[in-house]
Amino acid sequence: MKIFITGGAGYIGSHTCVEFLNLDHDVVVYDNFCNSNYETLQRVESITHKTVTLVEGDIRDEDALCKAMVGCDAVIHFAGLKAVGESVEKPLEYYDNNVQGTLCLLRAMRTNNIKKLVFSSSATVYGNPQKLPLTEDHPLTTTNPYGQTKLMVEEILRDLYKSDSTWCVSILRYFNPIGAHESGLIGEDPKDMPNNLMPFIAQVAVGRRDYLSVYGDDYATPDGTGIRDYIHVVDLAQGHVKALESLVVPQYTVVNLGTGMGYSVLDMVKVFSEVSGKEIPYRIVPRREGDIASCYADPTLAKKTLGWQASRTFKQMCQDSWNFQSKNPHGLNV
Ligand code: NAD
Ligand code: UD1
Repeated sequence: MKIFITGGAGYIGSHTCVEFLNLDHDVVVYDNFCNSNYETLQRVESITHKTVTLVEGDIRDEDALCKAMVGCDAVIHFAGLKAVGESVEKPLEYYDNNVQGTLCLLRAMRTNNIKKLVFSSSATVYGNPQKLPLTEDHPLTTTNPYGQTKLMVEEILRDLYKSDSTWCVSILRYFNPIGAHESGLIGEDPKDMPNNLMPFIAQVAVGRRDYLSVYGDDYATPDGTGIRDYIHVVDLAQGHVKALESLVVPQYTVVNLGTGMGYSVLDMVKVFSEVSGKEIPYRIVPRREGDIASCYADPTLAKKTLGWQASRTFKQMCQDSWNFQSKNPHGLNV
């Protein structure tokens, strides 16, 4: 198949390109590099010994999209802005990029008669969990513009499928992706100050930051710090392969991609410190606004419908994040 991957130069996109190229699919990456770089795609090529077709462009440019996707069979849509705090400060930019951008993409797909789509959603659409583990039928709610853009796109896709049931749509709700490709050539590489826990810890370990701020130790969890369902990015990428393979008949499907296991902030500090051999100094600071105590998936549906389940351990995730960070102490943006 020839697969059109928006945001394919980004963290999850680049790992997904590797998985599809390894299976001998053709990959067209469409990216404006607002949060990624060209070097990552060169590294994808050196890992796979395959060539990636790159079209540099913005998903809000419908004409450019239309031309770039000619001859493709399916679309995987990663492109978007993802920083929760920034979305509160710049809501219009987030709605424009994530919602307007997706509308352009869907129109371009319709023009080209491409009706297979895998979309990156997030566990953030569950809001503050009413019960755990989270199943796909949990009520949906959001607390910030970023989450709202994910929910809006899910609803747009549901309406699109209702209006034309020849579409094949798979919505993947990711839990917390961490880790990196085993080569250490590609991984999570934030351009600015990391917002998420793993890249922050990795930068403390490599000496770029002095200490980790732990956002609260008074949650109703065993050690008082927040619990999340961390998933290895390569497992996640393989979930996209399974999702696309499952789109052989028209459908609108929503599945969680998580492990079903929860680890706390202090669990990560401990395991990361063990695998890296580095001390991770930390300070307990007040809770981060909008944070929840615990969040983890019920991954049963993904196993049943996609034949997919995560296989890499939490320790492996920490080892692979450290492998990437220690081989690229200043990231790929230097
Ligand atoms: P990322 O920022 O590393 O990758 C996103 C890519 O999209 C980047 O290469 C960026 O340059 C590109 N992009 C952004 N806006 C664009 C536009 N207008 N036109 C063209 N390209 C554009 O992020 P990621 O972590 O790989 O996330 C991929 C997707 O998964 C996003 O939609 C994100 O919201 C979603 N998601 C991520 C996480 C996570 O924790 N990483 C969790 C849940 C969902
Ligand atoms: C964040 C986003 C969420 C998004 C998810 C995956 C917020 C409020 N939520 O969620 O919408 O879907 O990433 O990209 O940003 N922590 C620290 N110190 C840090 C960073 C994090 O203690 O410097 C703690 C947090 O309080 C939390 C845990 O680590 O308990 C994980 O945080 P993070 O990696 O930001 O992910 P989420 O909070 O799940």
